Amino acid sequence: MEGAGASVPTEENAFAARLFSGLPDRYDLLAEVLSFGQNRRWRLRLVAQISAAAPKRVLDVATGTAGVAIELARRTDAEITGVDLSAAMLERGRDRVGAAGLADRIRLEQGRAEQLPYEDRAFDAVAFTYLLRYVPDPAATLAELARVLRPGGVLAGLDFAVPPQPFWRAAWWTYTRLVLPLAGALLGGRAWYDVGRFLGPNISRHERDWPVGRLREAWGAAGLVEVEISSMSLGGGRVIWGRRRA
Ligand SMILES: C[S@@+](CC[C@H](N)C(=O)[O-])C[C@H]1O[C@@H](n2cnc3c(N)ncnc32)[C@H](O)[C@@H]1O
Repeated sequence: MEGAGASVPTEENAFAARLFSGLPDRYDLLAEVLSFGQNRRWRLRLVAQISAAAPKRVLDVATGTAGVAIELARRTDAEITGVDLSAAMLERGRDRVGAAGLADRIRLEQGRAEQLPYEDRAFDAVAFTYLLRYVPDPAATLAELARVLRPGGVLAGLDFAVPPQPFWRAAWWTYTRLVLPLAGALLGGRAWYDVGRFLGPNISRHERDWPVGRLREAWGAAGLVEVEISSMSLGGGRVIWGRRRA
């Protein structure tokens, strides 16, 4: 059965598609530069949770330019499906998958996390990165991700978070509100200025609405057990993983 969630693309979907339409060319470089290389560390932590389960079929949701999908292919024997709503990000992803010689292992498809075009229990593991800040109902989207996961399979997610310690929170605030838009504009032009301005307030709002305790509850309500949370880089990145209840 396909996802029974929101069947009509939402305002949030249209916003995300617009936001990411101008980013693909420099996305992979700037995602690393502007995160001081932390993005790669966080991704590898996420990928390690999935590769430890030796899955055969993996879904990478919000795959974008396929950075996580490529790491998953390198660290497992699995067939990988990447899904994202942005055609522009996927186009860049296909080029990268081809350049990595992984076109026979990674398939990229357009689709929405809120209503995945896959059967129930179709995958042994599901990854998602930087997704829940772009959907109107994160709890419903988590349930949709769990739907396509087989019982006992691993779900692992990565997102930004707000450092809890006051000194580092102030430094993070200064970086996201002042430096990020400016550095984005200098290195990537208008589209990166826009995303630089958007990101800090968006992360703060998500953290306020979905503090880690509420997120943990949503994972449980979606049918995930053995849920673990790793806070990284002074709390600026957060990886969560768990297993679908058998
Ligand atoms: C910051 S990018 C992350 C891309 C990739 N996961 C990575 O780590 O580089 C966020 C991605 O989420 C995608 N996205 C946003 N909302 C989505 C939704 N509702 N369904 C599927 N993809 C979505 C965007 O198109 C974008 O490619």
